[in-house]
Amino acid sequence: MVDLNVCIGSSCHLKGSYNVIQTFQQLIEAMNLHDSVEMKAQFCMKHCQTGVSVRIGEKIYSVSPETAKSFFDSTVIPLIK
Ligand code: FES
Repeated sequence: MVDLNVCIGSSCHLKGSYNVIQTFQQLIEAMNLHDSVEMKAQFCMKHCQTGVSVRIGEKIYSVSPETAKSFFDSTVIPLIK
């Protein structure tokens, strides 16, 4: 199970965290990954400069609405076991 935590703090919200969440949601639906990926919204991760912040485990990634799909394909999918 991959825990995908998306920041919905004010800075990340302004940078499009809602759209990032929408994109992840659609991909989880389309690939039927409900049992493999758990997405949660989280408040500020203190990486506002590089938001939208997405945390998996201890690692914080910088994602944007434009890169959400490629991030999912290249980073999230390989973590699914
Ligand atoms: S608002 Fe997202 S890291 Fe601060």
